[in-house]
Amino acid sequence: MSCTEGDRKMDLIITGSSDEMSRKAAELFARRIRSNPAIVLGLATGGTPEKMYAELVRLHREEGLDFSRVTTYNLDEYLGIPETHDQSYRYFMNKNLFDHVNILSENTHVLNGMADDPVKECRDYEEAVKKAGGIDLQLLGIGSNGHIAFNEPGSSVQSRTGVVDLTENTIKDNARFFEKAEDVPQQALSMGNGSIMEAKEIILIADKESKADAIFKAVEGPVTEDVPASLLQKHPNCTFIIDSLAAGKLKNRRVL
Ligand code: PGA
Repeated sequence: MSCTEGDRKMDLIITGSSDEMSRKAAELFARRIRSNPAIVLGLATGGTPEKMYAELVRLHREEGLDFSRVTTYNLDEYLGIPETHDQSYRYFMNKNLFDHVNILSENTHVLNGMADDPVKECRDYEEAVKKAGGIDLQLLGIGSNGHIAFNEPGSSVQSRTGVVDLTENTIKDNARFFEKAEDVPQQALSMGNGSIMEAKEIILIADKESKADAIFKAVEGPVTEDVPASLLQKHPNCTFIIDSLAAGKLKNRRVL
């Protein structure tokens, strides 16, 4: 698959620092929440969004940003670790955002990594997102191998929420959060590429030089399942908010 001329690619906002990236992304989320208080958000975990969530918490505390009618669905969760595990994505979300804003816990959704039937868990999750009217605004990070959520290189453009194997690259990247690389789960539940592409608006954030290659391939490379983030070139309303280090390999710095 390649991107034909005239395709609208993602918009690009290049910021001077990782802090500014976080602030800009939080501002955009806050604007969308204010204009649609019952918004359905798709949320991401990882090192990249931590400061953005801290800024949203500040906006809630200091400027009254209201989460009381907001609904959230997270992208993914490790298979086989309980939500009380300090590396589970449910734990991350509670710690970094949900415990500090006025969101109703029943409106927050993270795939259950301990589900008896993980395949059914994924199917039910897709149904729940559909019932909620779909994701209005989806936050994404990007893996150094170009993955979005846990859709690793080679995952189909049409993939739906399901059980996925993590690549060695991702296990290595995520080992920093665990005591030993052997402790990193090898599988996860993840929204699929096809599911993510149905979000009405997508914001991808990336900082650090370690993301520069993936960002270059996603923005300026061909649209290919080998680089799942490149599929976003086909999304009608997608913006990358990245710092200058992550933008380091871009040739065409077409910015907003
Ligand atoms: P990171 O992960 O924010 O921890 O770099 C991003 C991702 O793998 O999607």
